[in-house]
Amino acid sequence: MNYWSQDKYIEAYRYAAGKHKNQKFPGTDWSYIVHLSMVSMEIIASLNHESDVDGDLAVQAAILHDILEDTDTNYSELRSQFGQKIADGVLALTKDQRLDKQKRMADSLHRIKAQPKEIWMVKLADRITNLQPPPEYWDMDKRQKYLTQADLILKELKGGSEYLANRLKDKIEIYKNFIIA
Ligand code: NI
Repeated sequence: MNYWSQDKYIEAYRYAAGKHKNQKFPGTDWSYIVHLSMVSMEIIASLNHESDVDGDLAVQAAILHDILEDTDTNYSELRSQFGQKIADGVLALTKDQRLDKQKRMADSLHRIKAQPKEIWMVKLADRITNLQPPPEYWDMDKRQKYLTQADLILKELKGGSEYLANRLKDKIEIYKNFIIA
C-alpha cells in the first residue's frame, strides 16, 4: 500500500478549483475540474497496484498537472505553495510554448523522464483520461495524431507504472474505434 493524505488532496484540489475556475472541459460545458478529478482518480486507483510510490506527490501532481499550462499560475508561486518536487514535476508536464507545436510532446516526455516515476504516472493517467470519445468536431486526422501521440507516451513512460501502462494500452485499442479510415 502507498500512503496518501486526504488533506493534501483537498489542499491541492481547492487551489486548482480556484485557478481553473473559468476553464471548461474541451468539447463540453463541464468545469475543467472534472478532468483533474478523473486524472487523480486514476492515480489513486493505481496506488493499490504499485509499490514504493510517494502517494502525496503523485496525487498532488495529478491535481495540479495543468496549472502552469492553462492558468496564470507561475512556477515560483507553485513552488512556494506545494514545494520543489511538485513544482518541478508540473513544470516537466507543461509543454514549452516557445517550441514548434510538433516538438512539444517529445520535449515534455524527455523532461518527464528526468523526474521521479510519480510524474511519469501522472502523464500516463492524463492520457488514459483523455482517450474518451473525442469531441465531435475533431476530424480523423486530429484523432489519428492524438492516437499516435498516445502510443509515444506509452512507449516512453510505461516503466512508470505497469498497471497504468496496461490501462493506457486498453484505452488506445478502444480509441481506434473512433477513427474511420
Ligand atoms: Ni491534463
